[in-house]
Amino acid sequence: TRVLVLNGPNLGRLGVREPDVYGALSLADLRDSVARWSGELGVDAEVRQTDDEAELVHWLYEAVDSGAHVVLNPAAFTHYSYSLRDAAAMVTKAGLVLVEVHISNPMAREEFRHTSVIGPVATGTVAGFGFDSYRLALRAVAAKA
Ligand code: DQA
Repeated sequence: TRVLVLNGPNLGRLGVREPDVYGALSLADLRDSVARWSGELGVDAEVRQTDDEAELVHWLYEAVDSGAHVVLNPAAFTHYSYSLRDAAAMVTKAGLVLVEVHISNPMAREEFRHTSVIGPVATGTVAGFGFDSYRLALRAVAAKA
């Protein structure tokens, strides 16, 4: 089972950016954790990050074309990117699992974060558990895929 673990804008600054909200660990730490968890679950996961909406859209096409499941932290794109939503819909319509993840709980934060345009086309969402949101999402993929 192949899983693309895709991260959107500003998540390359994990550990530096608002550690009170996102924790002190870095994207490199997330890579290490995902490598450990995917080993335990017997899935083949690859972690990527970009600040570029087009690149994220293209990675979702790659998931469709290669039959990979997706764990997606769309970051701020969550709240307004219809192009990302349309590409995410292609993944789930193709019968692949797409789990939307958030480190924080957007529903407990500012009003503008309460809307996810990705949620309605995702298989499901995990939010609010720090990096463990990714672990839970990988478990969900492993269980469903
Ligand atoms: C986030 C939540 C988003 O609202 C925010 O824009 C992010 C990170 C999270 O993981 O908690 O960049 O997706």
